[in-house]
Amino acid sequence: MKQSSLRQIEHDGIHVAIIMDGNGRWAAARGLPRTAGHRAGAEAVRRTLEATPDCGIRVLTLYAFSADNWRRPKDEVSELMKLLRTYLLSETSQCVGQGIRLNVIGRRDRLSRSLRLAIETAEAMTAKCHRLHLRIAVDYSSRDTILRATARQPGQSQPTREEFARLLGAANHESGASPDVDLVIRTSGEQRLSDFLLWECAYAELCFTKTLWPDFGQEDLQSAVHDFYRRDRRFGQIIEAAAS
Ligand code: FPP
Repeated sequence: MKQSSLRQIEHDGIHVAIIMDGNGRWAAARGLPRTAGHRAGAEAVRRTLEATPDCGIRVLTLYAFSADNWRRPKDEVSELMKLLRTYLLSETSQCVGQGIRLNVIGRRDRLSRSLRLAIETAEAMTAKCHRLHLRIAVDYSSRDTILRATARQPGQSQPTREEFARLLGAANHESGASPDVDLVIRTSGEQRLSDFLLWECAYAELCFTKTLWPDFGQEDLQSAVHDFYRRDRRFGQIIEAAAS
């Protein structure tokens, strides 16, 4: 990686986005209901967060519930919503203690009032935290976000990329611009983006691991980040130009 970009990244920390996949298969392999896989997945979220300080991560975005996940069986959807609310209620004070700013990105109008309240409370309580920015994507679709962002500037002249990133942030209830992703990790062996941060991933490095999300932990995160630092990120330039 270009030395100056590497130094900048080491100074600022990287943005890692994780597609947490494989909860259902993890449960099925144990003869358990899919919801048990999601509960184990919530534990993997806790473990992963604990590993972030050693990995130089500044922003961590987790794909918890896509807009298309509403098409899952009603019981599974309601268990996932319950898990998210429980997570926010139980982890927010720990986040404050650990300097973690929490935001939920995605649509809110289809969430229950109690979940919306838990989100607003968690965001308000952690607003001044600066060590890590944890973004949880709930009822999230990147394509819909782009459409909502575009609608925020009707009839205006074409925005710059930076302005558009701010429109994306605003479309997802964020105070600032939606940050570019440095590294996407997808667990469970699937190799696709599934409508996740499509604009922000323009130059993201991709890491696909066969590990199922509930088994994911500190070593998996460290190994993915370690591999990331060995990649040649050229951003369209040629190597000689990048090295100068
Ligand atoms: C995909 O696995 C996973 C999800 C749709 C839900 C992710 C949710 C969690 C990890 C738990 C709650 C999150 C937080 C932030 C507390 P899948 O169900 O599609 O697995 P499969 O492909 O094996 O069926």
